[in-house]
Amino acid sequence: MDAHSIPYREHCSLQPFNTFGIAAQARYLTEAESVCDLENILFSGRFRHVPKLFLGGGSNVLFTKDFDGLVVLVKIGGIETVREDESHVWLKVGAGVDWHAFVLHTIDNDLGGVENLSLIPGTVGAAPMQNIGAYGVETKDTFDSLEAVEIESGELRVFSHAECRFGYRESIFKHEFRGKYIITSVTFRLEKNPSAFNLSYGDIQKTLREMDVAQPTLRTVSEAVIRIRRSKLPDPAQIGNAGSFFKNPVIARQQFEELKIRFPGLPAYPAETDAVKIPAGWLIEQCGWKGLRVGNTGVHRNQALVLVNYGGANGLEVKALSEKIQASVLERFNVRLQPEVNFV
Ligand code: EPU
Repeated sequence: MDAHSIPYREHCSLQPFNTFGIAAQARYLTEAESVCDLENILFSGRFRHVPKLFLGGGSNVLFTKDFDGLVVLVKIGGIETVREDESHVWLKVGAGVDWHAFVLHTIDNDLGGVENLSLIPGTVGAAPMQNIGAYGVETKDTFDSLEAVEIESGELRVFSHAECRFGYRESIFKHEFRGKYIITSVTFRLEKNPSAFNLSYGDIQKTLREMDVAQPTLRTVSEAVIRIRRSKLPDPAQIGNAGSFFKNPVIARQQFEELKIRFPGLPAYPAETDAVKIPAGWLIEQCGWKGLRVGNTGVHRNQALVLVNYGGANGLEVKALSEKIQASVLERFNVRLQPEVNFV
């Protein structure tokens, strides 16, 4: 493709491309359907020196202003089997594939490992960025490797599991390599005909019982997760949101013990030695925010960790609300909440 032939739009609303539904504008907008398209976009004379933002499903961003550059929607598709042995299948999945469509593909093919991650909004390429996780499972558990284009050189590089340095909602792409690579595909190692499932997260077993499921299968576990998510989390197609707005804070065990004396109801999840992860949703609810509406924004009534756009909110309003929440949690509990959402 000739550099001049890159199709793009100008002064384009980003509202359809972020699940918060924020009506920021992009100076330019284009799509990349292949690694080759990406390389053309990176090195075209037209856009060579224009700031660029690569977007997947836009499910983890908050636009606080217009983007005076080129927004590239990564639409690389495809799901292919690249390896197989007696017990596992390795699937290489294009970065632009919708995450939940990929999960459904694994279920249709009796492949286990990502069923607990059903219905998470966003694309496959974004999953390793922040090691998405839910109901006791994280991307890293089935992750094999990924391919990414280096923005500076245009070279395609493979990253192994260890090289991604996964942590709780963390990877190298949020730190040393932030803004340096575009993930183009992810390879997962999935279990053939699984018989054991991760049901450790309390609500899954309870939901399976409500569904009258005695013997869980891939599909019923996925359906249970979908039920739980639908009951707690707002559907971005109806109310703009980006899932959890903050990470669950990890605090020193000693601080946890002190807080537990003052707040005996404080729940906890296991974390590294001498540290405890506590639910930000609980802290925010205790500060009285749950279900509160502030102008066009608010805190979701079923899950205090989710901030919502009731329609017409701009990113600065959401950011201002998030800062008020952080301040009140800090004042009451002396715990600093870190956003999980990326501000642009
Ligand atoms: N809680 C409250 N009030 C609330 C919300 C939560 O008290 O309004 C307390 C309750 O004690 C509850 C506990 O928090 O038992 C855990 O709540 P929940 O199961 O809803 O999970 P979470 O810790 O709030 C995390 C992830 C979610 C993921 C769920 C389920 C983070 C930042 N969030 O939320 O991920 O779906 O666990 O595994 O780790 C996302 O990242 O966008 C996301 C939705």
